[in-house]
Amino acid sequence: MIRKIKRTRFVVYLSIITLAVVLSVTFFIHTQCLRPSISYYRILEEHIEMERATAEDPRKYILLYTHFFGNSNWYLQAETVGPDYFRSIQCPVTDCVLTNNRELLGGITEYDAVLFHIAEAWTYALFEKVPKVRSPRQIYIAANMESPAHTKHLLQGDHDFFNWTMTYRLDSDIIWNYNNFVELESGRLIAPNESPLWRSNWHTYTNATLLELATRKSKMGVQFVSHCGAFSRRDELVQQIQQLMEVDVYGKCGTMECPRGSPRCSQMLTDDYRFYFAFENSLCQDYITEKMYNSMESYIIPVVFGGADYAKFAPPRSYIDVQQFGTVPELVAYLEWLAENPSEYIKYFWWKEHYRITGDQPFCQLCRKLHDVGARERIQYYKDIKRWWFDSACQREAKIRF
Ligand SMILES: *[C@@H]1O[C@H](CO)[C@@H](O)[C@H](O)[C@H]1NC(C)=O
Ligand SMILES: *[C@@H]1O[C@H](CO)[C@@H](O)[C@H](O)[C@H]1NC(C)=O
Repeated sequence: MIRKIKRTRFVVYLSIITLAVVLSVTFFIHTQCLRPSISYYRILEEHIEMERATAEDPRKYILLYTHFFGNSNWYLQAETVGPDYFRSIQCPVTDCVLTNNRELLGGITEYDAVLFHIAEAWTYALFEKVPKVRSPRQIYIAANMESPAHTKHLLQGDHDFFNWTMTYRLDSDIIWNYNNFVELESGRLIAPNESPLWRSNWHTYTNATLLELATRKSKMGVQFVSHCGAFSRRDELVQQIQQLMEVDVYGKCGTMECPRGSPRCSQMLTDDYRFYFAFENSLCQDYITEKMYNSMESYIIPVVFGGADYAKFAPPRSYIDVQQFGTVPELVAYLEWLAENPSEYIKYFWWKEHYRITGDQPFCQLCRKLHDVGARERIQYYKDIKRWWFDSACQREAKIRF
């Protein structure tokens, strides 16, 4: 009997000890392993909740602070345009407002981005040169489509002022170039790009319709110029070419007239002329204006002269770069050889079956970048924007001798 009680007591003790061990192990696991992970979840949970709350008003406001060549709303349709405008130009991100109305929000510091056009001097038409107060989260942007030769706002006073640049230069924060090349098949933007991936099947290109068209052309070069005496000395270059080959110069600096954009005027580029001289006013890094792109809408070869590496902007065999020739007679000899060989001449149109030219939408890029968390969180500004814009950006001397 006593032995039986002893055994029962032993079993009870053992059960109590086992229970205690199990409880403390459970307690240990709960406090050391499970609890922390529960609070990790809570941190993530709280973050998502907060993000949802702030995501309720993610709209970005962009203030056009200066005029754009005398136009206060930069040639937009209205003083203020919103998401409908960004949708109409098919932007990937559309929750932005562009305005020149400084009273749209409570104060200038409320705008997410403030745009300044630096091709013009700011002294006229502006009662207040720059905002008196500035919030550290605001992005001040220097916008410019003109080359350093035509930048009239003096940048030397703008140390530590601009956060982003919006220019045609490929090293800008937002690239504001004249046109783009898009691949027909994929719809992908191919150029401009530091190293675009072009197709290169121009070697074997042939096309009976174009061959006939090329054979019918009777004139050599054509150029349209309205601004004479440019920094690049393009007028002298054309004059030297004219001594060896016929070039008709239309516009203010030439002897012929043809209203820009008239149907007859653009038709003669395809029907009569072989070479379109798209010479830039200055020889600057990445500086290619609409002249080249516009001529590519017709069936005429653009002969380009500028400071850019054209391979970053246009397909191979779509233009002739004057700077790749040592002298004017070498250039003219090549143009004459093409004129005599229509099957070689038409190879310069091979790209039209693979690419198309589109307009650039810098405000799309700007809206997207303002919504991009990575870009927004980064503190960035140009210590010496004058150096960035002017230093080694342009050449005085062309590579071709003339
Ligand atoms: C020849 O070129 C024209 C103009 O680019 C194009 O419309 C046509 O399809 C081409 N023809 C052939 C057979 O590729
Ligand atoms: C913008 O530039 C200003 C002035 O240099 C600077 O104080 C500010 O932190 C910059 N803001 C951002 C978001 O980069």
